[in-house]
Amino acid sequence: MKAKIYITRTIPEHAVRKLAEACEVDMWPEADIPVPREVLEEKIRDADGLYCMLTDAIDSRLLAGAPRLKVVSTMAVGFNNIDIEEASRRRIMVANTPGVLTETTADLTFALLMAAARRIVEASDFLRAGGWSAWSPMQLTGQDVYGATLGIIGMGRIGEALARRAKGFDMRVLYHNRSRKREAEQSMAIEYAEQDDLLAHSDFVCVMAPLTPDTRNLIGARELNLMKPSAILINSARGGIVDERALYDALASGTIWAAGLDVFEEEPVKLDHPLLTLSNVVTLPHIGSASIRTRTRMAEIAADSLLQGLSGELPAHLVN
Ligand code: DGY
Repeated sequence: MKAKIYITRTIPEHAVRKLAEACEVDMWPEADIPVPREVLEEKIRDADGLYCMLTDAIDSRLLAGAPRLKVVSTMAVGFNNIDIEEASRRRIMVANTPGVLTETTADLTFALLMAAARRIVEASDFLRAGGWSAWSPMQLTGQDVYGATLGIIGMGRIGEALARRAKGFDMRVLYHNRSRKREAEQSMAIEYAEQDDLLAHSDFVCVMAPLTPDTRNLIGARELNLMKPSAILINSARGGIVDERALYDALASGTIWAAGLDVFEEEPVKLDHPLLTLSNVVTLPHIGSASIRTRTRMAEIAADSLLQGLSGELPAHLVN
């Protein structure tokens, strides 16, 4: 009998085909709308495998209603939406898609940094709104990227890829991480710093850590107060790591200069969110890994992991 799998979003066709060759596939028929919780609860009841997105809450209650579930494969590197402890307790394998999105996400993070520093979105809006009456000496002036100091909080694969880009702009790179990255320090001439020192000395602070109980609200009012008034905060990791209320206050009062955000505490962010009222914030709808090639590969890798787990092998990117 073929294993039954449920896919929580409409994914690229070749990944579906691959899964359908070995399994009985059921898929939520929408690409842009997440599967409603009640549908997921019903579908997971007799599923052997689940192919999910970062928008699905795979919590203990859901897992309790999935007696046959053997593998959860998420089309993402981050897995803060999955109760890993509970999955492990139930001997359910959880797999993610690391590696493949590293460079693409580092590209986007650097783009966000550049956009916030040089006011790219604001300048474009200004032109389209008819504000450009003449070239003007100090109009839309921003912060220099070249030669500035970049502080990276969370030095995993994407952090290292970001550091490589920064070196191309002749930036000094400080990083803070749970463990020292001595090889990267040597090969890229980057420097380890305590978090408070990094915040105080960086022109740009990029949050690149995973969201865990330890990193929730890692950047709050105290941390923002340590930053330079000319500094820019970039978050392309997870929304809950930065306290959005404190960030709004810091941006509105001039405690820091600007921010670039690809992620929010609640996604999609509400259109009346205070951060969206500020012109010194560049906001994006969680598109860090969104290149055609990378998302296509992520879809395939998540399918491969699901098939590996269902056939009794260990998935290539097992989380637990
Ligand atoms: C991930 O994979 O966790 C990213 O946030 C998706 O862009």
